[in-house]
Amino acid sequence: MTERLIERPRRLRRTEALRELVRETRLAPSDFICPIFVRAEGERRPIPSLPGHAQLPVAEVPAKARELWSLGIRAVILFGIPARKDPYGSENKDPDGVVPRALRAMKDAVPEMVAVSDMCFCEYTDHGHCGIVNRRGDPHYDPHLPEGYLLNDPTLELLAQASVVHAEAGADVIAPSGMVDGMVAAIRRGLDEAGFAHTVVMSYATKFASHFYGPFRDAAESPPRFGDRRGYQMDPANRREALREALLDAREGADILMVKPALPYLDVILEVRRHTRLPVAAYQVSGEYAMLRAAADRGWVPLPDAALETLVAIRRAGADLILTYFAEEAARWLLS
Ligand code: PBG
Repeated sequence: MTERLIERPRRLRRTEALRELVRETRLAPSDFICPIFVRAEGERRPIPSLPGHAQLPVAEVPAKARELWSLGIRAVILFGIPARKDPYGSENKDPDGVVPRALRAMKDAVPEMVAVSDMCFCEYTDHGHCGIVNRRGDPHYDPHLPEGYLLNDPTLELLAQASVVHAEAGADVIAPSGMVDGMVAAIRRGLDEAGFAHTVVMSYATKFASHFYGPFRDAAESPPRFGDRRGYQMDPANRREALREALLDAREGADILMVKPALPYLDVILEVRRHTRLPVAAYQVSGEYAMLRAAADRGWVPLPDAALETLVAIRRAGADLILTYFAEEAARWLLS
């Protein structure tokens, strides 16, 4: 005999139309921010650990932006591979540096595209750390701190200066990713004083010292030459501290709060979502992308489906925006 069940949740799953009707979370191309790597010199170079992505010369950025725009993508984030590196990452604040040149070229071609500038020094410093490090003999040397320590306040100065240079070149959004204390306040102040009160700050507010950044460091040629980033990026074990970091950046004036990586930190996305009214972004990082691609290549997970499942999960956890290496492909999948 059939049970007289009162609750039958499956009623709403019987047909695709019903499922569509009650779907709680949707994906659209305008949810995505597409990462673009730009090289100061030389030809386009494919990135083996990020299949489908390449370091582009500045001249190829406009066409890429046009293509993304036509797919419904409304924002890109630029990462630069500079011509030269030095201890202070000087090219990051050079108006003729790689990202400012790319910004101008892209804004000429697609003025409406939201241009996000990743604001960090690790791609520009010869030591690969995210700002000025403590070195004997350097004018910033602090004998009370260990050799190689990322110096906080001297780095803030540089971040503020470079942010103004990027805003001048056309960046709509500055995205500080160095996990330096006070970076949002310093950048906000620098921008405001230079007349860029309208420039958005999207903070990598809770960025974990993750092992999922490996392919990016190949792509951006930015691995630290010594040590690691655990002295500034967060311990993956800490959720309370993640919320503290996020709320601190909100108080410093951030307009958008980011959590990074995404899939291993869905609880953190939810936590931040519940405690702020600001938009929340999540970065599905290079290692997350590479894992899915590698498994798909072996036929172990199906590709459009598994990738879209991760993206919808990140949105469901509370992210409004997703930075993802699947942006372009996912936009095509959603349109087809
Ligand atoms: C720069 C930066 C990193 C990423 C984004 N901005 C690398 C890092 O912190 O080492 C990682 C992005 C990714 O893995 O996709 N600090």
